This record gives sequence, structure tokens and C-alpha cells, in this order.
Amino acid sequence: MVSIMENIAENKRKRVLSGIQPTNTPHLGNYLGATKNWVDMQNDYDCVCFIADLHAITVRQEPAKLRAQTRETYALLMAMGIDPDRSVLFVQSHNHKHAELAWVLSCFTQFGELSRMTQFKDKSSKGEENMNLGLFAYPTLQAADILIYNADLVPVGADQKQHLELSRNIAVRFNNAYSPTFTVPEPHIVKATAKIMSLSEPTKKMSKSDENPNASVFVLDERDVIIKKFKRAVTDSGTEIVYREDDEGKAGINNLMGIYCAVTGSSIADTEAEFAGRGYGDFKASVGEAVADTFAPIQSEFKRLMGDKAHVDACMKSGAERAIALSAKTLAKVYRKVGFYGIG
Ligand code: TYM
Repeated sequence: MVSIMENIAENKRKRVLSGIQPTNTPHLGNYLGATKNWVDMQNDYDCVCFIADLHAITVRQEPAKLRAQTRETYALLMAMGIDPDRSVLFVQSHNHKHAELAWVLSCFTQFGELSRMTQFKDKSSKGEENMNLGLFAYPTLQAADILIYNADLVPVGADQKQHLELSRNIAVRFNNAYSPTFTVPEPHIVKATAKIMSLSEPTKKMSKSDENPNASVFVLDERDVIIKKFKRAVTDSGTEIVYREDDEGKAGINNLMGIYCAVTGSSIADTEAEFAGRGYGDFKASVGEAVADTFAPIQSEFKRLMGDKAHVDACMKSGAERAIALSAKTLAKVYRKVGFYGIG
């Protein structure tokens, strides 16, 4: 099998980059909106995927828990199918060049731009006490993550669209100020799974930090827990399994149908035909079964990998080395362009 470094050396394929925070276990939204696409894209692109631990500390974390979750998330991405040989899979803090580039890019990011970021505005309007500088500057670090690898495509869920637009603006601004340096990245957002909604409040996106334990389904939830959560999913007073895109009142059933199609590969029309005359209860149980079936092999592979610490740690180390090698040229170029004095 051709390894990613050989592919990159030949420079034939487009480059994909994306990241996930190691806070809590990934949920179904992270999986369908992001990580599953990373797995699928490995065949046609050079993929660079990472665990965004620098981003995670913008909110207070318990150090031991963050450390454990970083390794778990790494193993879980491997279990989902990210091949650490075919892709570059690493932990963000292992490549200090992200933080270095972020500083330079922060001098190319306007205060007003960051103030308009909805994720930041949401947190500040909720009266969050710990409104630290990292939380404000977070999108500039995200731009550095992307631009340092000259990514062509960034597969993310819809909630990251605004951050991607800022990354593009920063890239263009820097390129215009000097000369072409960064690839201007395109978001890769798969419409059908870009926003998986909460199971208990289907007009709200599924979120790791939701206080309602029934709102989110996590990749490591036990089979019966997954099925129970789907059986309890909030829908409406109707009975027919039909998809009505523009009907807010149908958000619950639309969400369940989207999930079912994504995990089974079925189309909306086929799903409607399959469940004609069967009612919501029956359908909810089937969605739960289908999601549990999808997660079962990931869970057993995760368990196996967690029992092989040496292997996971070795993959992490070689991922870091590759990430550092891959980003060195861009950072050196940036340092030269902005006028830093080099010592060889
Ligand atoms: P994070 O860790 O919040 O989420 C990881 C990915 O999951 C997607 N996602 C969803 N997709 C569909 N439905 C949902 N309910 C849902 N919830 C989350 C997110 O859009 C994301 O793609 N800032 C990023 C991490 C990051 C990053 C980057 C991503 C740091 N640097 C550079 C891309 C490129 C974040 O917090 O993702």
C-alpha cells in the first residue's frame, strides 16, 4: 500500500484537513457530519486529521481527563477507519507550529471579524464567566491549523462554516499582502448530514455539552442505551414516516430519517416506502438498531486498540513527525515573508 508521505511527495492528490476536539466522546453528529467523511475521503485525497487539544483548553478541562480523552479520541478515529499509515493522524499540541503560525495570523485578523463569530457571541451572550482570550482568538488558531498544511478541502459540519470563511479571508489577506503563500481552502460540507439535530430538542443541533443525556447519542454508548435514546426521541403528533424539509414541526422525524439514510445508505424515497404504514414507534426502534449496528464494529475495534497502548502511541508519534515535516515549509515561508531574520 502506498503511504501518505509517498503520495504527498508525488503531490498528485488534493489535500484534506480537519480536526475534532477531544472533549467528551464524539457523538453521532461528529461522526456523520465530520469523521465519517474523513474516512471516506482517504481513498481519493491526502488526509490530515488531528485532535484539537489546543482548542479544547479554551474551556476549562480537567487535565487527567483531557489527557485520557486525547488518547481515546485518537484510538476512536483509528477504530472508525482512519488509517494512520494512509493519512496523517496526530494530536495538535504535538506540532507546535500551529501555535506559532496562529500568532502570525492573529496579526492578520481583525478584532471586528472575531467579534462577529457566532460561536463566540453565543458563549458571551450566555454569560459564560471564563471569556478568555483563547476563546476569542480560537478561529485564528483554526485558520493556522488549515493553512499550515495548505489544505484544499476541509470536511466539517455546518457549524464550522463561518470559521472556514474567516480562514479563507485570512489566507487571501496574507497572500495579497506578500505573494501567494497559502492555498485558499474550500469547506466540504455534506448537506444531508451537516447538522444532526438533538434527539430531545430537534430544532437544536446535537451537541457534546447538552445537559440532557437523551439529546445526544455517543459513539461509545452501549447498544441498549442507543436504542433507548432513539425510542425516546422527540417527534410530533403525526404517524407517517415522510420527509418534509421545510416544515419545522417535522424537525424530529426529518432528523431521524436523515440519520437512518446516512447509516444505512438508503434514500429518503426508499425509507418512506420501507416504513409506509408502520408508525413512528416502529421507525424509531429501527433507527436505533441501525445506529447501534454502525457503532458496534467501531466499538469492538476501539476496545482492541485501547488494549494495545504501545501501538496507538507509536501511531501518534509517527503522526506527529509527519505533521511536523509537512508543515515546516509553510511556516518557514511565512517567517521569511513577514521579515523574520533567519539563522539558517
Ligand atoms: P468539534 O470538535 O466541535 O466538532 C468536530 C466536527 O463535528 C462537526 N459537528 C457536527 N456535524 C453535524 N451535526 C452536528 N450536530 C455536529 N456537531 C459537530 C463539526 O462541524 C466538526 O466538523 N473547531 C472545530 C475543530 C477544529 C477544526 C480545525 C476543524 C479545530 N481546528 C481545523 C476543521 C479544521 C471544532 O470544535 O469541532
